[in-house]
Amino acid sequence: MNTTTYKPTRAVIIGAGAVGTTTAYTLMLRKRVSEIVLIDVNHEKAVGEALDMNHGLPFVGGVKIWAGDYSDCAGADIMIVTAGAAQKTGETRLDLLKKNAAIFKDIVHNITQYNQEGILLIATNPVDILSYVTLKYSGFPVHRVIGSGTLLDSARYRYLLGKHKQIDPRSIHAHIIGEHGDTEVPVWSLANVAGAALAIEDEHKERIFDSTKNAAYEIIHAKGATFYAIALALDRIVTAILQNQSAVLNVSTLLDQYNGVSDVYLGVPCVVDRSGVREVLDLPLSEEETKLFHQSADKLKAEIAKLNL
Ligand code: NAD
Ligand code: LAC
Repeated sequence: MNTTTYKPTRAVIIGAGAVGTTTAYTLMLRKRVSEIVLIDVNHEKAVGEALDMNHGLPFVGGVKIWAGDYSDCAGADIMIVTAGAAQKTGETRLDLLKKNAAIFKDIVHNITQYNQEGILLIATNPVDILSYVTLKYSGFPVHRVIGSGTLLDSARYRYLLGKHKQIDPRSIHAHIIGEHGDTEVPVWSLANVAGAALAIEDEHKERIFDSTKNAAYEIIHAKGATFYAIALALDRIVTAILQNQSAVLNVSTLLDQYNGVSDVYLGVPCVVDRSGVREVLDLPLSEEETKLFHQSADKLKAEIAKLNL
């Protein structure tokens, strides 16, 4: 008889919409966890999504997926929040704040009733402010409340830089930091390939950054929502955590005297391991980049102040 005890790894996804279900599907295909739970106010939708994915298991195997409720957060390794309103054409991420901050109070309360030890990974927009809100509502330590931050923006930036240079984007080292949104900052001064600075003419720099910053507007205008790349970004963060990888990822975390910025969540390079955000990495920003980073922080702090947390 096999007496080995087996501890399943469980990800609970709150919000079974476009982002939540694509993330579940990505985790399922890549077998990142052994259990995936979908929770949504529209339970019937979550049931349908889980059923559809379950019918793929004969081709994939090894994962259990079901539509559950908050009691399923008990013992979960990670809770990924993708619930809430998404942008419509013409809306900014910050336009979603009032609506989504209100539902976060209940969501975080419901999760923490059952789970005090797991990691909270936030994707709902505006993601930096909602990560800060989650930190306050949950009472969790900072390292276990993580926003997806500028990981997606950095991926878009690297894709566009790679396309321009005809180099695999995985070999491009370049960072977008600050808000996941309109005030995000490209760190041109440190962008490199194999340690060599990326030589790009100013007109191309402007075009590449504009396309990076406005990517979501373009995609939402064209097809209503973004979900494939964010699902892969969330999968990357989950993997860094569950495999204790110490991977450097531009996630959103609470800053403490980071280039002179404190008490706000922003995307910066962090070392991510089984504890969550283990360490925040300093970047020697140029004067202009520092100025833009401060502007990004000030914008979000002004929005947070309106919430009366
Ligand atoms: P969607 O409308 O397809 O799905 C949202 C889901 O949340 C719906 O199924 C809805 O029923 C559910 N929901 C609403 N209130 C809830 C509650 N109180 N409890 C549980 N479930 C609830 O939207 P989407 O396209 O999946 O986007 C979700 C969020 O993710 C949006 O805020 C969007 O802006 C954000 N997003 C973030 C990134 C990022 O990089 N961080 C990328 C893409 C989208
Ligand atoms: C994005 C979302 C909408 O795709 O924040 O950037």
